[in-house]
Amino acid sequence: MKVLVIHGSMRKNGNTGILADEFIRGAQEAGHETEKVELRDKTFGDCFGCRACHNNGGTCVQKDDMAEVLEKIKAADVIVLASPLYYFTWTGLMKRFLDRTYPLLPILKDKDFYLLTLGGVPDKKFMDNILSDFAMYVGCFKEFNQVGVRNAGAVIGTSALAPGAIRESAAMQEAYETGKNL
Ligand SMILES: Cc1cc2nc3c(=O)[nH]c(=O)nc-3n(C[C@H](O)[C@H](O)[C@H](O)COP(=O)(O)O)c2cc1C
Repeated sequence: MKVLVIHGSMRKNGNTGILADEFIRGAQEAGHETEKVELRDKTFGDCFGCRACHNNGGTCVQKDDMAEVLEKIKAADVIVLASPLYYFTWTGLMKRFLDRTYPLLPILKDKDFYLLTLGGVPDKKFMDNILSDFAMYVGCFKEFNQVGVRNAGAVIGTSALAPGAIRESAAMQEAYETGKNL
């Protein structure tokens, strides 16, 4: 399978990237093809909200790096959204990216979505909001009658504030195993 990891933290060598790499290690060991997109290295603007993409077969009027990322999503079987918790949801960078996936709503089929997230909070109960945001995002594809677009699950890390702190978390093993068991 083709596994595409979309990483939405601005922090280089940060915790989410470390957790994502562990997921990728598991997926690679299981023989899957993997790719990581670093959103912080991509140049793309906010969705204009023009909805032209829903009337032209799925092409965004903006010519920027999102065009290649959308093609990668279409080609993948598994899409992993990896974002730290910022004010109890994903980062602004991840949100800007998700808004730009609007062209895919009427056309995306047969994808498993995973969420990798973490934060400084000590308990997974503080992740309810981002889990709900993730479920609602994936659920939007169903609203557009797309079949096989699935919320496949989430890996959550807690008590991870300083860079590298996630290495002490059970989430590392969970990410590795989730990747390995795709
Ligand atoms: C602007 C901002 C908002 C944050 N909001 C939260 C939050 O709501 N809950 C939380 O547990 N941690 C929060 N954090 C802490 C980060 O989630 C934490 O440092 C995480 O390890 C960052 O991941 P990264 O290293 O992959 O960038 C916030 C950090 C920043 C910079």
